[in-house]
Amino acid sequence: MDLKENIGIYEDFPKEGISFKDINSLILNPKAFQYVIDEMAKVAKALDANIIVIPEARGYIFGTPLAYLIGAGLVPIRKPGKLPGEISSEAYDLEYGSNVVEMQKNAIKPGDRIIIVDDLLATGGTMMAATKLIENLGGEISGIITLIELTDLGGRELLKNYFVHSIVTYPY
Ligand code: PRP
Ligand code: MG
Repeated sequence: MDLKENIGIYEDFPKEGISFKDINSLILNPKAFQYVIDEMAKVAKALDANIIVIPEARGYIFGTPLAYLIGAGLVPIRKPGKLPGEISSEAYDLEYGSNVVEMQKNAIKPGDRIIIVDDLLATGGTMMAATKLIENLGGEISGIITLIELTDLGGRELLKNYFVHSIVTYPY
């Protein structure tokens, strides 16, 4: 399966200088989508996790079928103002811009083993914010799985204390 054939590239979107990787063409192709989830599941099963954490929005696409397949619970990380109850927040810098993410405090308990799943690892800012939210609540990170990794943007170095698995790489 040549996944790169299924990933669209849009130069200068959403800002000049950004080479945007569009997964919408991949998830439109059922064979490519199944292949990606199956590949993620092979790695995820070995990580022995009970929870998959999914950053809004594109993390939901891959993390949800993966959780179903391996039999894990799902914990969404959301953009501000969407979650009720007691909330943990983390600010982070994005490949383009900056953001705040939130998680419900009762979502994770000490001893939970967690895989974070997203579509793309770029600077690693989103993932680092996710690891902080999880660890502040006493969760243990079993690993990080992304479909795409942009290897020149430093995400893997930032996340050097964690197991990181990506399926497709581009320099940027
Ligand atoms: C994109 C992508 C990753 C993140 C990667 O999400 O889906 O979550 O950026 O970049 P980083 O490694 O530099 O943090 P974005 O916040 O654009 O929003 P979306 O998932 O809601 O489309
Ligand atoms: Mg995202």
